[in-house]
Amino acid sequence: MRIGVYPGTFDPITNGHIDIIRRASKMVDRLLIGAAQNPGKNPMFSLEERTEMVCDEIDAIQETNKKQGHHCDIEVTSFGNLLMHFAEQNDAQFIIRGLRAVSDFEYEFQMVGMNARLNPNIETVFLMSSERHQFISSRLVKEIAVLGGEIKEFVSPRVEARMMTAIGQKK
Ligand code: COA
Repeated sequence: MRIGVYPGTFDPITNGHIDIIRRASKMVDRLLIGAAQNPGKNPMFSLEERTEMVCDEIDAIQETNKKQGHHCDIEVTSFGNLLMHFAEQNDAQFIIRGLRAVSDFEYEFQMVGMNARLNPNIETVFLMSSERHQFISSRLVKEIAVLGGEIKEFVSPRVEARMMTAIGQKK
């Protein structure tokens, strides 16, 4: 049984993340999406909200997978410990990460190196972001939304609604 972990802060989950989840779910039998606490990023949404938003996107992915004859158990959970410990606890053999531009490479390269030191038996697998999603970033989506710009192209209608509510509450 191939088990993969797809970690992220998901503040909020974007179409770029969803694209990676769709593709990763075709590579493993069980995909565990881990929403990281990551207090250093000073998230807009609480860990519970971020996890819930990811959960809300999974049904549509499962539905498409079913139609296409792919079977993958997709689960969403949060974690506050080391990514490697989280992966070990879930018997994962793979960590899956999306890679966008050259600028992602240095950060990811460092992280993969450190993680490999912690547990060389768990491989990090990178999926290149599809061309449409190369430039999406949660930080920029938040900035656009806060300044009144259109974010429909970058997030699902569910996430957009949540962001509008969150921003409305802050004003
Ligand atoms: N398409 C478009 N955008 C994408 C994308 C894709 N396929 N994949 C990621 N992104 C964007 C996100 O929107 C996000 O943008 P932002 O930085 O503006 O918010 C950025 O790329 C990265 O976000 P995300 O994928 O959510 O990952 P992250 O870098 O926030 O997550 C963890 C990092 C959670 C993996 C890392 O902090 C971690 O492992 N934490 C646990 C603690 C630990 O083990 N630390 C030691 C590590 S060696």
